[in-house]
Amino acid sequence: MTKFWLATALSLSLSTFASAKDNFAFAPISMPSDGHVTLLVGEGDLSGTAAEIDAASDGALSKALENAEFKAKFGKSMHLYNIGDFTRVTVMGVGDEDLSMRQLHDLGGHIAKASDNKVSLNVVAGDLDAADLAAGYKLGAYSFKKYKSDAKDHDRTVTFMSSDPSVARSEFEGDLNHLVEGVNFTRDMGTEPGGSMYPELFAQKVREKFRGVPNVKVTVLGVREMARFNMGALMGVGKGSIHDPRLVVVEYMGDRGGSAPIALVGKGITFDTGGISIKGNSGMWLMKADLSGAAAVAGTVYAAAKRGENINLVGVMAMAENMPAEDAIRPGDVLETMSGKTIEVMSTDAEGRLVLADGVRYAQDKFEPSLLIDIATLTGSVGRALGTDYAGIMSRDKELAASFIDIGEKVGEEVWPLPLNDKHFKKIKSDIADIKSTSGSPGASIGGAVIGTFIDEDQPWIHLDIAGVDWLDSGTPTTPKGHSGWGVRFMDGVVRDRAAGN
Ligand code: BES
Ligand code: ZN
Ligand code: MG
Repeated sequence: MTKFWLATALSLSLSTFASAKDNFAFAPISMPSDGHVTLLVGEGDLSGTAAEIDAASDGALSKALENAEFKAKFGKSMHLYNIGDFTRVTVMGVGDEDLSMRQLHDLGGHIAKASDNKVSLNVVAGDLDAADLAAGYKLGAYSFKKYKSDAKDHDRTVTFMSSDPSVARSEFEGDLNHLVEGVNFTRDMGTEPGGSMYPELFAQKVREKFRGVPNVKVTVLGVREMARFNMGALMGVGKGSIHDPRLVVVEYMGDRGGSAPIALVGKGITFDTGGISIKGNSGMWLMKADLSGAAAVAGTVYAAAKRGENINLVGVMAMAENMPAEDAIRPGDVLETMSGKTIEVMSTDAEGRLVLADGVRYAQDKFEPSLLIDIATLTGSVGRALGTDYAGIMSRDKELAASFIDIGEKVGEEVWPLPLNDKHFKKIKSDIADIKSTSGSPGASIGGAVIGTFIDEDQPWIHLDIAGVDWLDSGTPTTPKGHSGWGVRFMDGVVRDRAAGN
C-alpha cells in the first residue's frame, strides 16, 4: 500500500495561497476624505453623512438618486461619480427594518460586491454593527486566485465608520475575523485540486493553520497507528491510492473546568473517483471538494480556538483518497472496523460512510463527547431532496435534530431534517457481514444509518449531509460561486450556543 517513493516524487510544493489583501479599519463617523465612499442609506430622506455630502455637493446626491428612482431597498446599490470631492459614491440601500446579524452579514457581502476591489474605501455604517458588516464583506470578497497567472496583488484598506468603532474593532479582530478565516481556509481546502491536496498534505495544512494557537494540540495518525486501532474501513478506502490515509485530530481545550467536549468528525476524501465502482465522467472534477466536511471541522475548531471560546472542542478528520487500483478494495469486500463490527462494501463509491465509521468510533471512544456531530459530502440524493439551500440533518433523536433548525436560520447556513429510523437500520443488514454499506434508496438516510451503526444509541449525535450545499454554481452575498465553506458558520453557531450554556 505504501508507495512512498512515488508519493514523494509527486508531492507538489504548495506555495502559500495567494489571496488579495484587504485590511479592515474601524473609525468614528466623520466626513470621509475624497476617493471611494459607500453610503448606507435607509428608505426616505437622506440623513447623517449622506445628508452632509448632499449639502456639500449642492444637492447633487439627492437629485441623482431621485432621477434614478433609487428606493434604498435592502442590498440594492448604485454608483455615482464625481459627487462633490468624491471620485465615486456607492449608495447602498438598507431597507426600512432593523437588521439581524444574518442580514448585516449579507449587507457586508453586498458592499463587497459593489466595491471596486482595488482601491481603498470608506463605508459609512452609522449605527449599524460594523463588525458584522466587515465579516460579511470579507466572506463575500473571497476569491481563489492561486492558479491565475495574471492575478495582481492588491493591498487596500476598507474603513468602516460607525458610532461605536472600538467595540466593532474588538468584536471583529477578537472574534469574527477568526470565523471568516476559518470559512476561507475551508474554501481554500475544498477548491484546491485533488492532484495537489492529499491526506498528508491536508494534515500539514492543518498543522500550519493551528501553529501557535493556544490550548490546541494537533495529532496525526498514520497507517501504523490506524492498524493498531483496527481501523479497517478508513485504511480500506485509502488502499488504492499512492497517498496513505490520515486521521487528523485537533483538540482545543478552552474550558479549564474539564467538561466533556463537543466532537466534530469530518469526511475528508481528497478526491473521490468512486474507486473500483468508478464514477462517470460528467462532473467528476467536483470530487476534489469531497473533503469539505473535514475542512469545515478544521475551520470551526480554528474559529473557536482563536477567539478563546470557553469550551472544549475536538475535531477528527478522516482523510483518504478514493482511487481504483490493483490493490484497491472491491465491491463485495468485507472490512473490519475499529468498533469490531464488519461492513460489506456494496459500492466502493459509498466511501464516506466507511471512513466515518472509524472516525466517529474513534471520536466517541477517545473523547466521550457531550455531543458528536459528523459532517460529510455523503450522498447526491441529499442535493436532489434539498437543493443548495439546506443541508440534511439526521439523528436517532428527532427532537435533537429539529433543535438545530433555529441555529441554522440565525447564522445563515440552514439545515432541514431527513428521516432516520429503525427501517433504515434494518435495510443495511448484510448476509455475510454485520452491515452492508448501501441499500438502494433513499440514499441520505441509509448513509446516516451506516454511520449511526458505529455510534452508541445513548450518545447525543447529529449527522450533517452537505453534498448539496458545499458547492454553489451561483453565489449568494456572503458566499461567492464555488466552494461555500458550508458548515463552519453552522457548527460555530452550535459551539456558541453550547458555550452559552444551552
Ligand atoms: N462524494 C459522493 C457524494 C457527492 C455527490 C458529493 C455529489 C457531492 C456531490 C459520495 O461518496 C458518493 O459517491 N455517494 C454515492 C453513494 C451511493 C454509491 C450509495 C451517491 O450519492 O451516489
Ligand atoms: Zn465521496
Ligand atoms: Mg463516493
